[in-house]
Amino acid sequence: MRIAVTVNGERAEADIWEGESLLFALRERFGLPGSKNACEQGECGSCSVLLDGELVCACLVLAAQADGHEVVTVEGLGAAEKLHPVQQAFVDAGAVQCGFCTPGLVVATAALLERVPEPSEYDIREALSGNLCRCTGYTKIFDAVRLASGR
Ligand code: FES
Ligand code: FES
Repeated sequence: MRIAVTVNGERAEADIWEGESLLFALRERFGLPGSKNACEQGECGSCSVLLDGELVCACLVLAAQADGHEVVTVEGLGAAEKLHPVQQAFVDAGAVQCGFCTPGLVVATAALLERVPEPSEYDIREALSGNLCRCTGYTKIFDAVRLASGR
């Protein structure tokens, strides 16, 4: 089937298999590898994107379900020459080690701060509880969220 999705503000069309995930379509059809594929089971959050403004795991959404809808990936949040404030905060706080979890955490953090500009410690932990990081121990990640919030 053919789908048309607004991805990062631009209309994109692709022929897809009915059973493929939005994550697969983003990475393999639309050339956007920022959303990472780690578990494909909704466990790690590395594939987090915004679907019509709602934070979702792209591995749990069928590409077909995104037909006619709007998706924002980490690539749509900022550009290399002008990082999104959350991306800049992750850099400044040293919240990135291997970086595999980072795109999902950046999208989840941006969604949190959109909803709650000044989150409590609990808000931060709750909002990022679906995003797993094997490297950082989360301390720097929480620093980055607070930094982005303060800015
Ligand atoms: S790859 Fe989607 S939650 Fe892990
Ligand atoms: S920085 Fe390596 S998994 Fe988070």
